[in-house]
Amino acid sequence: MTDGAIPEIRRWTAEHAAPADVTMWAPDGLPEFRPGDDLAGVLAEALVADPRGLVDGDVVVLTSKVLSKTEGRIVPAPADPEARDELRRRLVEAESVRVVARVNRTLITENRLGIVQAAAGVDGSNVESGELALLPSDPDASAAALVADLRRLTGARVAVIVTDTMGRAWRTGQIDMAIGAAGIRVSVGYDGAVDRQGNELLVTDVAVADEIASAADLVKGKLGARPVAVVRGLAHLVLDDEGAPGERDDDDEGTEGARDHDRADVPRRARDLVRDGEFDLFRLGTAEALAQGRREAVPARRSVRRFSDDPVDPEALAEAVADALTAPAPHHSSPIRFVRVTGQARVRMLDALREDWERDLRADGHTGDVLARRLSRGDILRTCPELIVPFVDDASGAHDYPDERRAACEETMFTVAGGAAVQSLLVALAARGLGSCWIGSTIFAAGTTRSALDLPETWRPLGAVAVGVPAEPVAAREPRSAGDAYLTIG
Ligand SMILES: Cc1cc2nc3c(=O)[nH]c(=O)nc-3n(C[C@H](O)[C@H](O)[C@H](O)COP(=O)(O)O)c2cc1C
Repeated sequence: MTDGAIPEIRRWTAEHAAPADVTMWAPDGLPEFRPGDDLAGVLAEALVADPRGLVDGDVVVLTSKVLSKTEGRIVPAPADPEARDELRRRLVEAESVRVVARVNRTLITENRLGIVQAAAGVDGSNVESGELALLPSDPDASAAALVADLRRLTGARVAVIVTDTMGRAWRTGQIDMAIGAAGIRVSVGYDGAVDRQGNELLVTDVAVADEIASAADLVKGKLGARPVAVVRGLAHLVLDDEGAPGERDDDDEGTEGARDHDRADVPRRARDLVRDGEFDLFRLGTAEALAQGRREAVPARRSVRRFSDDPVDPEALAEAVADALTAPAPHHSSPIRFVRVTGQARVRMLDALREDWERDLRADGHTGDVLARRLSRGDILRTCPELIVPFVDDASGAHDYPDERRAACEETMFTVAGGAAVQSLLVALAARGLGSCWIGSTIFAAGTTRSALDLPETWRPLGAVAVGVPAEPVAAREPRSAGDAYLTIG
C-alpha cells in the first residue's frame, strides 16, 4: 500500500523492532531437570519469585536441553569413548531423514521436523557423562503446552521460544535459533512495506524468533546453568490466546509497515521458519551436490531435436569439445577431430549429403511425398544453431597390420573410440545446458562429406551433432535398471 492509508490491522506491525528498550535476564538457581519434572510449575515459581517477575508480553526463552531432560529424550550412553561415539552415530541416523552434508566424521542432517543441523541435534553437553540428549520430539507442541501452563499459573500473557545452538552456512561460529515457539509471531514480513525514502521492501521477512533466541543466549550462556531467559519489551510480537498480536504502544509515525496477516495466517510456530529442503538453494553440501551432478551427468543427456533461437555460447561449445577430447582412445593416441561447420560450408555439405541421400532413396523406389518426408528428416542439420561434425583420423595413431583381419579390427577400435568421444561431447554439452542430437547421415556419405569440407582422405565422419539451446525443458529420464542388458558370466 502506498496511498498512505494503513488499515488498522496493519498498524501494529509497522516495525518488528521494539517500541522501547528490550531487557532480558536469565535467573540463577533453577534445578537440574530430570524426566517427569513439572517444568511449568518450577519455571512459574522461579520466574514469578524473581524481583523482575513475569508480566504480559514477556518472552520465556528456554534451551531445548531442558525439554530433552523433562520429556525423557535422554539416552544412557557408555563411558567408553568409542562405544559412546558408535551410539551417537546410531542416534544421529535414527533422528535424521536426510544427510545434507558430510564433513569427515560430522554429519549435517535434516531431522523429521525439517531442522538442518550438525549431528541431528544429538548432543553430549550439559548432560551427565553417561548420557546423550536428543532434541525434543515436537518442540512447537512443547512450547504450546508451556505457554498454556505458564499463562494459567502466572496469569501473564507470555510467549515461549525453545532454542538450540546451530552453525550457519557462510559464517563461522554458532548461534542459538528457535526450534520451538508458541504465543509469539515468529517472523515479520515486510513485502509491500515502504521505507522513508519511498523504496518498497520486497523480500525482507525478519525471523524475529531466531533473533530473540540468539539474543537470549547472551544472558543464558553455555556454562552457568542458566537454561532459561526472560526477554521483556517485545509485547507487540506476543499473541493473545486467540492468536492476535499485542498492541504497539508507540505512535505509528506513518511509515508504511510490514505486511500483516489474518490472525490465522500469523506465522507462529518455529516450524514456519523452516524452509522446505526442496526450495532451499543450499539443500545439499557442496561435495554432495557435486557428487549428485556427476551421477546424473550421463542420464541427463537426451536427444534434443527442437532448439530455441538463442545463440550458443562459443566458449561453452569450445569447453564441451575440450572435455569430449578427454575420452579414451587406443595407443594413447588422439585420433578424434570435431569440425564446427558454419555458413556456406554448412549449406554446401548439407546440399551434397541431400543429393547423395535422394539418389539412394530413389534407388530404393521412394518418390513423391514419401521421398520428401524422408529427406525432411535432415532439416534439423540446416536449422540447428550450431553443427559439429566429428571425425576419426585413421592416420593419427592407428597401427598398420599386414593382414586384412587385424587392419579391420584396428579400424573398429578407432571407430568405437570416436563413439566414446561423441557421447562425451553430448554429455559435456548437456552439462552446460545445451541440447544436442547425434545424426548419423555423414557416416553414409563419407567421401561426399570430406570433399564438401575439403578434408583429408583419412578422416572418417562419425555422423553430425546438432547443437542448440533446448526449445523446452529436457525431460528427465525415468530411472531404470540395466535389466537383461547386464549379464554376469562366471
Ligand atoms: C550413431 C547414432 C546415429 C543417430 N542418428 C540419428 C538420426 O539420424 N536422426 C535422429 O533423429 N536421431 C539419431 N540418433 C539419436 C537416437 O535416435 C537417440 O539417441 C535415441 O532415440 C535415444 O534417445 P535419447 O538420445 O534421448 O536417449 C542417432 C544416435 C546415434 C548414436
